[in-house]
Amino acid sequence: MEAQELRDAYINFFKSKGHAQIRSASLIPENDPTVLFTTAGMHPLVPYLLGEKHPAGTRLTDFQKCVRTGDIEDVGDASHLTFFEMLGNWSLGDYFKKESITWSYELLRNVLKLTPDQLAVTAFAGDEDAPKDEETAQIWIEQGIAKDHVFFLPKEDNWWGPAGQTGPCGPDTEIFYIDQTKKPCGPECRPGCHCGYYTEIWNNVFMQYFKDKDGKFTPLKQKNVDTGMGLERALRVLCGTETVYETPLFTGIIGKVEEMSGKKYDEDKKAFRVISDHLRASTFLIADGVVPHKMGAGYILRRLIRRASRYMSTLGIEGVRMKEVSEVVIREYSTAYPELKENEQLIYDTITAEEEKFHKNLKKGMRKFDDMIAEQGETKVLNGEKVFQLFDTFGFPIELTKELAEEKGYEVDVEDFNNRFKKHQDTSRMDTNQTFKGGLADHTEETTKLHTATHLLNAALRNLISEDIRQKGSNITPERLRFDFNLDRKLTPEEIASLEKYVNDAIKAAIPVVCEEMTLEEARARNAIGVFDSKYGQMVKVYTMGDVSCEICGGPHVQNTSELQGFKIQKQENVAAGVKRIKAVVGKFD
Ligand code: ALA
Repeated sequence: MEAQELRDAYINFFKSKGHAQIRSASLIPENDPTVLFTTAGMHPLVPYLLGEKHPAGTRLTDFQKCVRTGDIEDVGDASHLTFFEMLGNWSLGDYFKKESITWSYELLRNVLKLTPDQLAVTAFAGDEDAPKDEETAQIWIEQGIAKDHVFFLPKEDNWWGPAGQTGPCGPDTEIFYIDQTKKPCGPECRPGCHCGYYTEIWNNVFMQYFKDKDGKFTPLKQKNVDTGMGLERALRVLCGTETVYETPLFTGIIGKVEEMSGKKYDEDKKAFRVISDHLRASTFLIADGVVPHKMGAGYILRRLIRRASRYMSTLGIEGVRMKEVSEVVIREYSTAYPELKENEQLIYDTITAEEEKFHKNLKKGMRKFDDMIAEQGETKVLNGEKVFQLFDTFGFPIELTKELAEEKGYEVDVEDFNNRFKKHQDTSRMDTNQTFKGGLADHTEETTKLHTATHLLNAALRNLISEDIRQKGSNITPERLRFDFNLDRKLTPEEIASLEKYVNDAIKAAIPVVCEEMTLEEARARNAIGVFDSKYGQMVKVYTMGDVSCEICGGPHVQNTSELQGFKIQKQENVAAGVKRIKAVVGKFD
């Protein structure tokens, strides 16, 4: 079976049950600053699971691109992936357990042609937060699943969510494929065991609770169903291959790497898998506007590209050639994800620039690494300072150093490195907020004004265009401000004029700019705009301009909006799928 056949079969089945198909959302979550990437199909739907009305109705279905980066270093084995796709269907306060299970069974039996003895399911065993889910077990048995294929499991196995720290969640019923060519590994073997007898293919979550920040569960306004079928795994089961890498999802990509290296996949599976997974993920991330960087999502992208680069050299692939793998990804995935084709040039330029940069650093860094090892003497642990130096000066991601060290029989002090890395991140964050050092010192006045103008523009966008707009990037030079934000269409000339007017009105109103220090929680309570990814209890600066703007920022800002004199938008650009850019200036305009 081809991947597109499975996507179509799933979507068409749920369309026939009254579901509306919605488009895959961006890999960069638009409403959740607590995580870097979209990690599940339900993630972009959180507001609707909490009760907001979805424009497409109460029954939805889609295939959603996801990225999980908890275990980048494990990629290369038989099962881990960073990028994956999730097929899903949702009831937003519409149907519940009975329909959900009945339809799942119908799809598995009639469309995917699995037999009852190839299936095992789980139900929630019950605890103080929610009762034992007898109803779910009963429905499965009525459908034709044998009693001894139904397992009651506790919360650690049978409860899903929330996706972030707080949010909707609930007990689930997980559906497993039984590999009948194998035997259970022992009397304790049950769904969730990793021996290979059971493979989870689908998860139906009965989302009916909200978990708050104190860990308390309260019933939601509406009872929802959230399901997720891992496309890669389901395809592996349906194609009967040993791992996801032998499914059609990877045939083209791996074939390309074989051609580039002159080697066969079987000769070095790990290298082929790392390159295929990481470059597939990188291609998708760049299309969604991620740029290689020292922090955040950009740092994950950088790590993926660099780790792939290293494995390309172990396969003997010379020169700057990642683009060729991206070409295959774009060709094979653009039917499902047209944003790849739309951003083709951006993908090639970004991946090539990063690959070139790493090649330069790699040579120098390897020499430094060899010197460090030579200096180690009897000590078998490379300390955090050294690992950090390789990261900071040569851009060596921690796991690259770890792998290099392990090859030579050394370990690295991960905890020490992480502490240094955290400190470095805090400092860079401060630096980003105070763009006024060194070369820019002469222009402090100009850049300060532009900084304040950025807050006003951000407020204007959210007030006039859409309250879902979030800052995706910002850069200020003495000449202009640059502001990136999420929007999947162009602003009209009228909208641009209205944004200018909004900011100019705020300038004319001569509003004082007030700076206060407070904890992150207080800032949140005030509805301040900002990224809430710092530690709880940490103090932040909040800049308020009347009732026009309230935003967390390191500053500095002017004291009164009138100092800006005037505001003009110079141009609007397209940065990536769903990301627009505005360049603007301040000063006196006639
Ligand atoms: N949200 C559920 C999952 O990711 C369906 O498994």
